[in-house]
Amino acid sequence: MTLRWGILGTGDIARAMAAAVRARGGEVTAVASADLARARAFADEHGVLNVYGRHHDLLARPEDVDVVYVATTNDRHHLDAHACIEAGVPALVEKPFTLDLERAEEVAAAARTAGVFVMEAMWMRFQPAFEEAERRIAAGQVGEPLLVQADFGIAAVPDRDRRWFARELGGGALLDVGIYPLTLVTSLLGTPTQAFALGELADTGVDASVSVAMRHGEGRLSSWSCSFVADTGIEATIAGSEGSLRIHGPFHHAGRLSLRRRDTVVEEHDLHGAQAGYEHEVDEVVRCLEAGRTESERMPLALTLTTMRWLDELRRQVGVVYPHED
Ligand SMILES: NC(=O)c1ccc[n+]([C@@H]2O[C@H](COP(=O)([O-])OP(=O)(O)OC[C@H]3O[C@@H](n4cnc5c(N)ncnc54)[C@H](OP(=O)(O)O)[C@@H]3O)[C@@H](O)[C@H]2O)c1
Repeated sequence: MTLRWGILGTGDIARAMAAAVRARGGEVTAVASADLARARAFADEHGVLNVYGRHHDLLARPEDVDVVYVATTNDRHHLDAHACIEAGVPALVEKPFTLDLERAEEVAAAARTAGVFVMEAMWMRFQPAFEEAERRIAAGQVGEPLLVQADFGIAAVPDRDRRWFARELGGGALLDVGIYPLTLVTSLLGTPTQAFALGELADTGVDASVSVAMRHGEGRLSSWSCSFVADTGIEATIAGSEGSLRIHGPFHHAGRLSLRRRDTVVEEHDLHGAQAGYEHEVDEVVRCLEAGRTESERMPLALTLTTMRWLDELRRQVGVVYPHED
């Protein structure tokens, strides 16, 4: 099935996804921006036919697209997702799905009521390295997984006009990059049951760095951190009674795994030959729509809601409040 994709947003990730869609045989047939000139520039660069200078104008002609990719800033995701659902158009919504659990639940409920496919674009879940790590853990290679450590820190461009540090755009490390280690530990150890967080806030009021300790039921703990000011290796290690599995950085689209027993690496698994970009989530959307599904089994809305619930709690603990919550 050749899907016709519409894209809301013209930023870095919209560009990367347009390439991934084409790489998988899809077509980007429409793009929308708050700025018509930006949409036109994007359309020229990516050979897109239909161009809109207001995001939701794209949804006024739902028959022109098979699916919409929501790649706007975090503060808009719920508005854009609702607009897709109301138009009856399936939507792949960038992470974080929304700014908080309440909004995420509203979008999920609207999608379920309307029977429209919606998925959070948590591309890490579709990566060959992540799936291989899950297989190895399920096969007992580290024994029962008991401890997970992970970090996701980048030294982001300190541009107050762009999204990373802007409170009104839903900036901050937790929602933008912390969501990866949170999804990782939830996927590998189960739903969190307790969490403690320490945070350092930027002068804009969003979290610059956060350090988190979590319990995932009895005997299973994780510790992870995220940052927009500290440049970490983006590594993850899953440890159990029999050994540990390291997902080499960047763990969210890794090229290498190594299995360690005591202090010796007993196996290296190189996945550099496998593609580690956005193609895999594009494939999942195609699979789901071909099968007539309204949710992805691999990235279900229930997992999105769990991560949103804990992001709310971690933000509460470190004191990050978005304008709609003031
Ligand atoms: N899955 C991933 O790997 C990944 C990676 C990065 C980001 N993301 C997510 O994707 C979303 C968008 O992130 P992004 O990295 O694409 O953000 P970005 O490059 O900052 O773009 C975000 C928005 O800023 C506007 N914009 C773009 N270039 C601009 C410029 N030169 N001057 C002024 N405004 C400009 C665009 O608005 P218009 O829509 O009005 O054109 C665009 O939609 C976020 O929710 C983020 O969390 C996901």
